[in-house]
Amino acid sequence: MGVEKLGVMTSGGDSPGMNAAIRAVVHTAAQYEIQCFGIRLGYKGLIEGDVLELETKDVRNILHRGGTFLKTARSDKFRTFEGRKKAYENIQKYKMEGLIIIGGDGSFTGAKVFGSEYDIPIIGIPGTIDNDIYGTDFTVGYDTALNTVVNVIDKIVDTATSHNRLFFIEVMGRDSGFIALNSGIATGALDILIPEKDYTLDKLFSSVERGSNQGKSSRIIVVAEGKKLGRVYALAKATQIKFPYYDIRVSILGHVQRGGNPSCYDRVLASRFGVEAVEALLHGKREVLIGIRSGKIIFTTFEEAIQKQKEINKDIIKILDVISV
Ligand code: F6P
Repeated sequence: MGVEKLGVMTSGGDSPGMNAAIRAVVHTAAQYEIQCFGIRLGYKGLIEGDVLELETKDVRNILHRGGTFLKTARSDKFRTFEGRKKAYENIQKYKMEGLIIIGGDGSFTGAKVFGSEYDIPIIGIPGTIDNDIYGTDFTVGYDTALNTVVNVIDKIVDTATSHNRLFFIEVMGRDSGFIALNSGIATGALDILIPEKDYTLDKLFSSVERGSNQGKSSRIIVVAEGKKLGRVYALAKATQIKFPYYDIRVSILGHVQRGGNPSCYDRVLASRFGVEAVEALLHGKREVLIGIRSGKIIFTTFEEAIQKQKEINKDIIKILDVISV
């Protein structure tokens, strides 16, 4: 199948490596003599017709930069039939024959609906720091965010140790614990609270107690954000009541986790995904998400990727149980 024009956009929360993915799409399109359009601000820009032509000269010097130079947004309008109709009118206006969307599961849910209503082949590239997308071992941005988190927690460990303080550190991840689990293991946390593992306050208290008995120097509890766990301040407060003689502090890492130059791993992953996404369109693929499994590129339908829950690695949870205290 010939593709003469395609569109690329970033959507949802930004993640380091999105620029590298856009760059790879633009270069691959140029290689196959496909005209490439960048859509600013995700679905919002598609609805509003915020479209620009992208040539290889336009993506110089962005490979190493965090964020997304196309900008991104979460669009409520795209959830409406009217919004999607406008979006399709712009696809027709620019005669796009394929769309590459770099984003998270919300973006692919939108893509699935759009692809079922209108005749436009769509390929998804998983880009989110949360690593919570079924159909890929790794999402673009996760490795960088993880390294940022480890770096910051190391610094908190320095001050925690100097003051003999216990820190509750909340990390991002929406409803999944990939960042919390892996960063907690990497920084020797006393305990790690993630949505995928049941916890009770008693279990938390015994981790704190054992850590103290064993003279653990890094008094860190890593807490994944998310509805199931309750706020980190409530946990810290309950622990303070149980152990009044402890000096407890809370640190919420926040959006620092989303920024920064992408790691080598994310740059390479994003570049691979970008090239494969264009080639997938050329091979007639549609409504699929690109992923990586055991180092190999794989494709999963949007339907499956949305329906299925990505499981956290149970072996790593076991490591937590064995070595955290
Ligand atoms: O999905 C990425 C993410 O950073 C989540 O980890 C977090 O829950 C959410 O986005 C924060 O969203 P916002 O930037 O809109 O506050």
